[in-house]
Amino acid sequence: MTTAIIGTGGLGSVIARHLGSGGETLRLSSADSESARSLAAEIGPGAVAAGDNRDALQGADAVVLALRFTVLKSVIDEIAGQLTDKVVVVPSNPLSTDAHGHVSRVLPEGQSSGAVVAGWLPTGARLAMAFGTMSADLFESASNRSPALAVLFYVTDDDRAGAEVARLIRTTGFEPVKVGGIEQSGRLEVGGDLHDLVVGPAKARSLIDGA
Ligand SMILES: NC(=O)c1ccc[n+]([C@@H]2O[C@H](COP(=O)([O-])OP(=O)(O)OC[C@H]3O[C@@H](n4cnc5c(N)ncnc54)[C@H](OP(=O)(O)O)[C@@H]3O)[C@@H](O)[C@H]2O)c1
Repeated sequence: MTTAIIGTGGLGSVIARHLGSGGETLRLSSADSESARSLAAEIGPGAVAAGDNRDALQGADAVVLALRFTVLKSVIDEIAGQLTDKVVVVPSNPLSTDAHGHVSRVLPEGQSSGAVVAGWLPTGARLAMAFGTMSADLFESASNRSPALAVLFYVTDDDRAGAEVARLIRTTGFEPVKVGGIEQSGRLEVGGDLHDLVVGPAKARSLIDGA
């Protein structure tokens, strides 16, 4: 299967390396095309750097938008024509960082990234929120945990997106666990009760149900 990853920074590069190690074919794109090119070269023959964001989607079954929340809408608008019936996976937390490195939330309390992104996507796109539930460092180190895989939580309202994101999560070396629909997205984001946890499936389910 082929997955496009738009954004090859701190998180997108780890998603790409894990998916590449799991045998996924990748089409990578970034603002500065050199960043996608060097990552593709590092991953090997299963990964190519696309000419641009639209080109990344050519032949892809799904796209991961590993972008800062503040650029997400402009990239969605740029690729909107190619998102009909496409699985769109978004890890973005609703944060922005100023010139001094101070991080602040860009949405009002109670409004989740998932709810806002769902409103930005064109009709026919199949959204799942996933891969942004832990720091890139933790995501890198907790892959293929033994003896039991660690969980990656996801949310979606779409069955096909759910099946596809579960497959991608398994390919990265984690156990997929669905928390619920997009209305549950806030639980996965920074500040949410399910954010930045490395747990197995039984603990994951008790946390979901216990809340
Ligand atoms: N890093 C983490 O630990 C972490 C954990 C959980 C969730 N997240 C979420 O993941 C998202 C990405 O975070 P990050 O830390 O990976 O950010 P980052 O390191 O700044 O990477 C952002 C990537 O987006 C690319 N980009 C920017 N504008 C673009 C455009 N118009 N078209 C194509 N690509 C563009 C950048 O390209 P260039 O490389 O060419 O500049 C870069 O590769 C954020 O929303 C964040 O909330 C991050």
